Amino acid sequence: MIGAVTDPTAGEPLIDAGQISARVSELGDEISADYEGRAPVLLITLKGAFVFASDLLRELRPDTDPRVEFVRASSYGDDIVSSGSLRLVGPDPPSVHDQDVLILEDILDTGRTLTALKARIRTLGARSVEIAALLVKDRPIPERPRPRYVGFHIPDVFVVGYGLDYAQRYRHLPDVRVLEAP
Ligand code: IMP
Ligand code: MG
Repeated sequence: MIGAVTDPTAGEPLIDAGQISARVSELGDEISADYEGRAPVLLITLKGAFVFASDLLRELRPDTDPRVEFVRASSYGDDIVSSGSLRLVGPDPPSVHDQDVLILEDILDTGRTLTALKARIRTLGARSVEIAALLVKDRPIPERPRPRYVGFHIPDVFVVGYGLDYAQRYRHLPDVRVLEAP
């Protein structure tokens, strides 16, 4: 779907900034405990996960000692329906050999992105690969990868804000909002 959409900045958010920060803080505690002594690699999927990742990083206990890597994994153009094509693009191959990798993803929709990314990280020799997804869309797709950490389960709607975009817009919104055809 492309063309006219409603103004997502009008009305109430689906998830407000306070709810997000409380949940991200809980995830930080859980991840710090689970990865104690393992110095995980946090693999941040660009662009959408950068806001979630920057908040989550700062909720980890100092002794978590994470490394940070970035990957561009894109299955969408400027459309809000998945095109089905997947691109995985550098900066560099992430440095994950023998590492415990935690992929930080903004949203799990069809799961194509994360299925491909997990496979890629395994071939690069990671010791373990888990996923932390801020949002998981409620979709009946049995073969989707299962994130070990989930911020929020949401209905099957298109959302923007807190890093998530529509045609590169709305990433700056501090909360998660629904975008609809009028
Ligand atoms: P998947 O491969 O279908 O799971 O798609 C995941 C990627 O599509 C996410 O990393 C987002 O970049 C994008 N995406 C999926 N749903 C939404 C949405 O509701 N809003 C914004 N981006 C989305
Ligand atoms: Mg996107």
